[in-house]
Amino acid sequence: MADDHADKRFATRSVHSGTQHIEGAVNTPIFQSSTYYLTDERYAGWADGAQHTLIYSRLSSVNSEACVEKICALEGAEDGELFASGMAAISTVLMGLLSKGDHVVANPDIYGGTYGLMTQELPRFGIDVSMADVRDPQSYEAAITPSTKILYIESLSNPVLKICDIEAMAAIARAHDLLLVIDNTFTTPWGCQPIELGCDLVIHSTTKYLGGHSDIVGGAIVGRKDLIAELFPKKVHFGGSPDPHACYLLERGMRTLSARMPIHCANAAEIAKRLETHPQISSVIHPSLASHPDYEVGQRIMPKGTGMLAFIVNGGDVAALRFMRGLKIIFEATSLGGVESLIECPFNTSHMSIPEDVRMAAGVVPGFVRVSLGIEDVEDLWEDINRALNDI
Ligand SMILES: Cc1ncc(COP(=O)(O)O)c(C=O)c1O
Repeated sequence: MADDHADKRFATRSVHSGTQHIEGAVNTPIFQSSTYYLTDERYAGWADGAQHTLIYSRLSSVNSEACVEKICALEGAEDGELFASGMAAISTVLMGLLSKGDHVVANPDIYGGTYGLMTQELPRFGIDVSMADVRDPQSYEAAITPSTKILYIESLSNPVLKICDIEAMAAIARAHDLLLVIDNTFTTPWGCQPIELGCDLVIHSTTKYLGGHSDIVGGAIVGRKDLIAELFPKKVHFGGSPDPHACYLLERGMRTLSARMPIHCANAAEIAKRLETHPQISSVIHPSLASHPDYEVGQRIMPKGTGMLAFIVNGGDVAALRFMRGLKIIFEATSLGGVESLIECPFNTSHMSIPEDVRMAAGVVPGFVRVSLGIEDVEDLWEDINRALNDI
């Protein structure tokens, strides 16, 4: 994939890289076709493995190719593939690269769907999973066995926003000849560059910040070319491929990524700061706060922060649910990364599949609330939160 804008800065790449100017179109048009005429060139591409060849939209489409090029340009990745959801991307990495008898190390405070895949599905195929502390790379190292193939992390753990020292984790992966796979959904390439820090594969739920408008479900894997070549046939076999129209919306969303992210992050940091002194709140978790246990690591690994914020409401889950119902601007909905602010209690939504004791040990205690700050005016968001907290 030749990127004419590879030497340009992030914002320019996010607007221009990958965009296909077919018939002089300024944007990549929607190519809503399941299949393509088979030319000699396409037969040759098919015989050569079919990757990035327009044959059939489960393999790739004009719109998926445009998105993959853009994500690769933003992540500094050699190659990538697009998926119908973040979970399709995650399951394709884990089921595609691991076989019976293999072992993966992860942390328990990850996205609930990923936790469910690791604890309920992988063991059915004879793949073992150990849980360690993402804050402590040595605990990952201690969990490595002769069968370990993958160390799995999230750039910010979900929902307790623990920060992994990715460089230290990458050093461990390299020393043991293991793959380091990261889910970079919460920080995006604007906030964190995992490949530069030593990761082999980067996963996104493009449903979130990359899409940015809560109107699609999608996923992506980018990283080392040899690994993507290994994963491509798995994607074709498992079939979790995206529809061209969803890809069109994703590409459109990504063109404004570098304009949206500073507002998401600034809004989250400002609300975090104000909540720290609110009498209804017992604890606030955001990487911008000096009180965050991983503040120093965060300043090195992801200094721009995140638009995600977590806090604990006094009075437990009953009070937290009452608070959320009182909000007028911020929607009570699961998911994140859209232009509108969304709020949830992980215990009955995104992390419901994680057993209560595991959740509690990870810090998802009663009253725990997760917010995805949108790009609304921060004063309106604060008025909404402050009033609903005072009305509990
Ligand atoms: C960090 C993270 N990774 C992966 C996923 C799964 O993505 P999707 O819902 O697009 O399948 C989610 C969903 O919330 C998530 O928060």
